[in-house]
Amino acid sequence: MTADRTGPVLQPIGPFDVDLLAELHHRCFTAIWDRPWNAKSFADVLAMPGAAGQILSVGDAPVGFGITLQAVDEVDVLLIGVLPEARGAGLGPMLLDSLLSAAASRGAARALLEVAAENRAAIATYTKVGFTICGRRKQYYPGPTDAILYERALNSCRIDDKSHQ
Ligand SMILES: CC(C)(COP(=O)(O)OP(=O)(O)OC[C@H]1O[C@@H](n2cnc3c(N)ncnc32)[C@H](O)[C@@H]1OP(=O)(O)O)[C@@H](O)C(=O)NCCC(=O)NCCS
Repeated sequence: MTADRTGPVLQPIGPFDVDLLAELHHRCFTAIWDRPWNAKSFADVLAMPGAAGQILSVGDAPVGFGITLQAVDEVDVLLIGVLPEARGAGLGPMLLDSLLSAAASRGAARALLEVAAENRAAIATYTKVGFTICGRRKQYYPGPTDAILYERALNSCRIDDKSHQ
């Protein structure tokens, strides 16, 4: 995306971002249903085939991040977080849109995610971006809290697929 000097900027996660990701996660994920992630958790998941992610900054300050895991034409949104002081300004949907566009450019045709049933802010974000409910997992999160499963079709457009160029 293009942006002015103070507007939001999205950049792909690099191998040296794991400490920053752990700090952002610690500040974003504070609900009873959230599980802890440290720098090693991020290093491990980012080393998996199909893992990708983006960091969202405003000015020079990182304010959010998202991580996806893709297998052929399906992508799971593993994590999306925006710092509390930056919430409510549409940054979450912007980040999610960008993650899904990147996944679609790598051939994803369907996106899936799970969210704690009580996580109203995240459910609002997912609904805005076009996700619909496709299932429920009882007592999936600490609490215990149910998980609601969401899905969305993507306009898959592999950058190496000449029929879409
Ligand atoms: C989910 C999340 C990424 C949304 O980011 P965001 O940039 O605030 O997204 P939006 O601006 O679209 O706001 C989404 C909803 O948050 C709520 N909200 C609005 N202002 C808020 C604020 N200042 N503080 C907290 N929540 C707010 C509203 O319900 C809003 O929905 P609405 O616009 O329909 O009223 C963010 O709330 C977050 O990081 N939550 C903690 C981590 C998490 O649970 N991630 C999802 C599971 S991986």
